[in-house]
Amino acid sequence: MKPADTLSDFSAFQSLLDRPIEDKLRDFQREQRLKHLICAAQLKPDLLKRLSHLADMIRRMARERESNLELRQLLSHKRAMLYFTQPSTRTFLSFMAACQILGITCNEVRDPKTSSEIKRESHMDSIRMFSSYFDVIIMRSPIANFAECCAYMMNRLESQEMRSVPTINAGSGSDEHPTQALLDFYTIQRSFSFDSEQKETGSRLDALRQSYPDLQRGPAGKTYLFCGDIGRGRTVRSLATVLSQYDSQRMIFVSPDHDALKMDDGLRTRLQDAGVSVYEFESLDAELNGESILSQTDCLYMTRIQREHNSADDTEQLARIDLGPFQLTPERVQRLKSFSPIMHPFPRDSVVQELPTEIDSDPRVMYFRQARNGMWVRAALLVHLLDASEELFMAYNRFYRD
Ligand code: NCD
Repeated sequence: MKPADTLSDFSAFQSLLDRPIEDKLRDFQREQRLKHLICAAQLKPDLLKRLSHLADMIRRMARERESNLELRQLLSHKRAMLYFTQPSTRTFLSFMAACQILGITCNEVRDPKTSSEIKRESHMDSIRMFSSYFDVIIMRSPIANFAECCAYMMNRLESQEMRSVPTINAGSGSDEHPTQALLDFYTIQRSFSFDSEQKETGSRLDALRQSYPDLQRGPAGKTYLFCGDIGRGRTVRSLATVLSQYDSQRMIFVSPDHDALKMDDGLRTRLQDAGVSVYEFESLDAELNGESILSQTDCLYMTRIQREHNSADDTEQLARIDLGPFQLTPERVQRLKSFSPIMHPFPRDSVVQELPTEIDSDPRVMYFRQARNGMWVRAALLVHLLDASEELFMAYNRFYRD
């Protein structure tokens, strides 16, 4: 009998997996739009602009009863499968809410023990079955490359003129989380849009920004500080990749000096090749050119230590690491620029407290807003992937003429 690992035997796709990232991108793309969303490298500036625009339209239409009803008609003929075999609260619920906003019916598998995988059905067979019943598969899995292999399988089916549906990677192993990068980017873009029209944030943040007259509009020309589990934080990897496409970026990475937690060589090289100035430190109190790194930060991105990826050795070694230098204490918050957004993909660790609740009412705090933005951008992504952008524009124009 073959070992239980045959459930996730991806050897049929190995030669496709081994290619450099840029060679893979065309496999996830149609002429004018995405075919699947698998990795953050697909989120090019032009696409980010289009998706942000769709998200803005959806959030506006969702406000009023009449336009909201119209939205709920937009994709009411579609069904989505939420296949989440790794714990998730925000990503799962925001995708579900996004489906509800657009009238998409959704179903879920969260515990593989309740599926035929318990009868040794392979993961790939499960996915192919979902594609018989559903029009899009949204998946989170602890298994690296699983979403990517599903996209290749769908492409093969399409080339054989069989039924094939878009695949969305909602988190794969410790490698990628492109839809989190999408919502993080959307939040950063709104924070630096200098748009007082944004009722919830505009006036408060605009007032704070007055002391930084040189701050540039948009995501370019900024110093981003990422803190926590840089090695295994898939949200960091995906967001840094997206931000590296914009000019004159400085990125500071703060993590414990441990092989699993610090930045891997692959990410460092990719960012440097994209023209980013990369700095690495082992404490939030570190200095760069004689000045505190916190006081030079335009945007702070905190993360938790991702214990679920620990090997037996890691658990023992990590228990000895002092996590104090990676906690955003109120005293450290004071050192940040008065306009610097404070982000975190959540969940935060209530034991380690890398982000203490005392700072939650600070006007720079973005993490709850980030989560809500996730719902709008995920709805935008579904509209794009299911080819309903034109219909959304038409519906929007029936309500607003600006
Ligand atoms: C992240 C994830 O699952 O990768 N959370 C999220 O999707 N909002 C980060 C984390 O779990 O720490």
